[in-house]
Amino acid sequence: MAKAAPSILSADFVNLERDIRHLKDCGADYVHIDVMDGIFVPNITIGIPVVAAIRRITDLPLDVHLMIDRPIRYVEEFCDAGADIVTIHVEADTEENNIKALEMSRSKGVRAAISVKPGTPAEALFSYIDRNLVDMILVMTVEPGFGGQKFMEDMMSKLRTLRKIIDLRCPGVELEVDGGVNLTTGRICTEAGANVLVAGSALFKAPDTAEFIRGIQAMV
Ligand code: DX5
Ligand code: ZN
Repeated sequence: MAKAAPSILSADFVNLERDIRHLKDCGADYVHIDVMDGIFVPNITIGIPVVAAIRRITDLPLDVHLMIDRPIRYVEEFCDAGADIVTIHVEADTEENNIKALEMSRSKGVRAAISVKPGTPAEALFSYIDRNLVDMILVMTVEPGFGGQKFMEDMMSKLRTLRKIIDLRCPGVELEVDGGVNLTTGRICTEAGANVLVAGSALFKAPDTAEFIRGIQAMV
């Protein structure tokens, strides 16, 4: 059973509380929160106060996806704001600083995760996996920055590679996919080994959110 992680980038920000409560009612597993800084990606979205506000209105796990340059500068604050998972990008800093950022999350009792952009190979994550530094890996299936983009099916070989490595070396680690996920592309991802699916525009456009979430959760 896959987990459904709705991305609130496609929510109605004026009615964010209503939309997040609805996600809970519809059985979502995580709330995926996209944090962008206008430097690592060409867009600016949500920051620390908004994560803290969301924390006050839901007990759903907050899956905070940091698309920011040198995330080590802010990881502690996102943890303190109430994140349950903090994902950094492997491309966003040196290996030394990324390791410090991942260790910071865990030291705060928060799950540590790392993500790869489409142009970054699976191998870029091997040293982090070997050193048991991550609880989740996120494979981007669009260029990070915007919702509503087309799913990149050519990322499936990367996903399969990471699934094999996870099964061999660290079976508890989650494998998440983000970008262009709907009920068709989501199945392609779970068949390639993903167990957490982020969905933004497709989920918020679906006529029946609960049915969409059940559709994801029915995937193996
Ligand atoms: C893209 C974000 C995604 C995005 C997903 O940079 O990380 O989480 O909101 O949106 P959809 O599902 O519309 O591609
Ligand atoms: Zn995301």
